[in-house]
Amino acid sequence: MFKIEAIVREEKLEDVKEALFGIEVRGITVSQVMGCGTQMGYTHKVRGSVSAMTMLPKVKFEIVVSTPNWAQKVINVIREAAWTGEVGDGKIFCYELDRAIRIRTGEEGFMAIQPGAPTPAKD
Ligand SMILES: Nc1ncnc2c1ncn2[C@@H]1O[C@H](COP(=O)(O)OP(=O)(O)OP(=O)(O)O)[C@@H](O)[C@H]1O
Ligand SMILES: [Mg+2]
Repeated sequence: MFKIEAIVREEKLEDVKEALFGIEVRGITVSQVMGCGTQMGYTHKVRGSVSAMTMLPKVKFEIVVSTPNWAQKVINVIREAAWTGEVGDGKIFCYELDRAIRIRTGEEGFMAIQPGAPTPAKD
């Protein structure tokens, strides 16, 4: 399994969400975060500035998928949806994940991230 974390511009939230829905990703965590990249939060050079880093508001997506192919697909659509070409477009981190557990059923790994089986009706 692979976990993809993507930090993107706030205004790209809807575009990225729609793009992920479009490739049938069905589990997403989104958070509002603050951060800075290599420009330390500045969108342009401030002459003589000695100020510390500025944290800018961003949106973070977290997605867990089962295979390297899926991970690449997710990376591709996020790149496409989040891109403007200006500094601050964001970053994508991808790493291998050891475990996933569906709390309701106790299913682990691959089974835990497939669409869940319906709960049997009680009669
Ligand atoms: N090395 C990093 N570690 C953790 N988070 C990072 C890192 N680099 C960037 N981020 C996060 O991604 C957000 C956007 O980063 P940003 O796109 O500015 O990266 P960059 O490397 O400066 O690229 P660019 O030159 O295109 O601006 C940051 O606000 C921060 O939340
Ligand atoms: Mg930057």
